[in-house]
Amino acid sequence: NSFIPYFLEPQQEDNISIDMIKLYQELLPKKESHDRRIKFVKLMDRLMNTEWPDHDIKAHVFGSSVNDLGTSSSDVDLCITTPWNGLRNVKTLAKLFRKSGMQHVVCVPRAKVPIVRLFDPELQLSCDINVNNTLALQNTKMIKAYVALDPRVRPLIMIIKHWTKQRLLNDAANGGTLSSYTWTCMIINFLQQRQPPVLPVLHHIENENKGEDYFFDNVEKLKGFGAANQESLGGLLFAFFRRFAVEFDYHTQVVSVRQGRYLLKTEKGWDTGRNKMSLCVEEPFNVSRNLGNSADIASVQGLRCEFQRFLEMLIAGEDLETICAPYRAM
Ligand code: CTP
Ligand code: MG
Repeated sequence: NSFIPYFLEPQQEDNISIDMIKLYQELLPKKESHDRRIKFVKLMDRLMNTEWPDHDIKAHVFGSSVNDLGTSSSDVDLCITTPWNGLRNVKTLAKLFRKSGMQHVVCVPRAKVPIVRLFDPELQLSCDINVNNTLALQNTKMIKAYVALDPRVRPLIMIIKHWTKQRLLNDAANGGTLSSYTWTCMIINFLQQRQPPVLPVLHHIENENKGEDYFFDNVEKLKGFGAANQESLGGLLFAFFRRFAVEFDYHTQVVSVRQGRYLLKTEKGWDTGRNKMSLCVEEPFNVSRNLGNSADIASVQGLRCEFQRFLEMLIAGEDLETICAPYRAM
């Protein structure tokens, strides 16, 4: 292992920061994309309430359509809430959407959270739908709060997400890698651990036994929290990749946004079974869930190679577009 510097050369860091702002501008969704999403949710709401009136069915958007981390091509994540148990089997929903003209309607009934996936050909949107998984609504609010706290958070996460998609490292369901949500938690935790910190630990603020679901959500009160940290976007990007290429101890450490630090696999009982070899990321509201367990040993090795590759290319002075070029099998 060759020596990896602790910082980029100042000129290189500036260049990367400039590249990042440019790419960020390109990734930001257009108003048109926002409007299409709103239309889509209204349509879904109407379809369900026309078919099954009197069941208090509501459609809530979560994920990147509302947490400020989406692009125009992001899917829509939808959570249906209803006290009625007639929708417990997602096949019932799938049937309705098929006859309503939706395409590629598939059920994933045995996923951790059962979903229906579909494509709306008119509005050109892909969508994942679950029923009554309200945890996802809560953790989406938390992500949105973290993103609003410091102006560096949104571009940093959007750019790293872009890289994960280009390099095929963002498919927890089929690719055996990590979901966007898992990546987002890793980046937030990294920012909590900078010295001085860019982000606070929202679960710890004014928390006097307020329960599992609590996090501090008064963003206004925390504006300026990260100002003591003067790191540039380029500096933070480099530090994130350095962290996961050479500093993070994959065998013993667990990423925890809830605690704002690393926990030990041993203290969580994650030092056995599948968790032992995985990249461990604690779900902030349901701490028994390891968000990283979608990636197996081979995938974690692949990830580590990709962190290394990114870092080496940064140090070699490559530009961001080259570093984020799509993965091609040799
Ligand atoms: N989610 C979760 N547990 C997971 C994965 C996802 O609770 N293991 C929930 C989170 O609420 C997350 C939402 O599902 O915000 C959407 O997840 P994902 O699609 O991975 O993230 P997005 O922010 O929507 O990113 P993308 O733009 O790639 O769709
Ligand atoms: Mg999504």
